[in-house]
Amino acid sequence: MGKKLVGLDIGSTAIRAVEVENPGHQRPTILRFGEVPLPDGAVRAGEVIDAATVTAAIRKLWSSSGIKTRDVVLGVGNSKVVARDITVPRLPLNQVRESLPFQVQDLLPVPATEALLDFYPASEAEGETGPMLQGMLVAAIKAPILVNVNAVTAAALRPTNVDLSPFALTRLFSNPESANLTTLLVHIGAATTTLVALDGHVPHFVRFLPNGGADITKGISQRMDISARDAEAIKRSVGVVAARATAEQRPALEVSFELVNETLLAIRATIQYFQNARANRAIDRIVMSGGGSKLLGLTETVAEFTKVPASQPDPFSLVPVARGLKGSGDAQDMSVALGLVTGVSA
Ligand SMILES: Nc1ncnc2c1ncn2[C@@H]1O[C@H](COP(=O)(O)OP(=O)(O)OP(=O)(O)O)[C@@H](O)[C@H]1O
Ligand SMILES: [Mg+2]
Repeated sequence: MGKKLVGLDIGSTAIRAVEVENPGHQRPTILRFGEVPLPDGAVRAGEVIDAATVTAAIRKLWSSSGIKTRDVVLGVGNSKVVARDITVPRLPLNQVRESLPFQVQDLLPVPATEALLDFYPASEAEGETGPMLQGMLVAAIKAPILVNVNAVTAAALRPTNVDLSPFALTRLFSNPESANLTTLLVHIGAATTTLVALDGHVPHFVRFLPNGGADITKGISQRMDISARDAEAIKRSVGVVAARATAEQRPALEVSFELVNETLLAIRATIQYFQNARANRAIDRIVMSGGGSKLLGLTETVAEFTKVPASQPDPFSLVPVARGLKGSGDAQDMSVALGLVTGVSA
């Protein structure tokens, strides 16, 4: 029996957990998974607002899914997280990490002591003053992460690690076939959209946009003066496929187009940025995930707009699953939770 670990993704619409065996493998085995929806406002853009509700939802998730493992890896990822390319003198990694507070103060909105800092090396280069290491700096403000950790601990779980959702997605969607490709990961949640540009399996650029599927629903509800529930239903049935909209549903289609357009422009800008920064290396493929990417016609629209092939793989098709695997929730929604326990040492 190998080591078991659970990836826990606290989203603004739901909490999701995936329990795996052998999390250190690129292809761990999924044992159990589940989802419990959250009421509006309990979590905002990845930050726990109503801790009691979230803790109760986590307990419910463990009892309803049958997950027994208490060791969890917690995901973080919202627009308050800073992730950018930096170049630092080449030193052993532990020394680079120790030097980060001095390197990065001017990039941060808070004193470096109030942030969690990490560095992911990507490549080495020769600088004017000697050998340099180029890589990604990640900085997240401690206080809101601690609130999330406390909500998890209060549910009698042991958070063994906190990891950034872009890295979870990177591990999940990287496979031997993609080692020589460049990839743009597009993860559209309810409140946050995450873009990650990869060269092979190395993330070179991460961008968080403070919007997602919930903004489309809200826009439709306001434009058509209907309830959020009705707006959600129309959004899901029409998507961005003009032929699917009745005359009455036309305003919903327009709202979806307007908001999707913002995402398309951000995707195109990111592809351009990557290309400029990486000596004209183009993006070979786009991999979409997150509930917001299920919008009908979106994957096709993204491919058409960028002229880059886009797909929306089923996360559970990428790893082995235990026999008779059952769980609540759509496999498509488990990408972050699964990625958190894919290819990590427990
Ligand atoms: N079939 C569908 N068509 C269109 N949109 C959908 C569909 N299914 C889900 N969504 C949208 O996906 C969004 C939820 O995505 P997801 O579950 O990834 O978000 P979350 O993890 O709860 O939130 P976040 O990560 O932003 O905090 C909602 O806005 C929902 O309307
Ligand atoms: Mg999410």
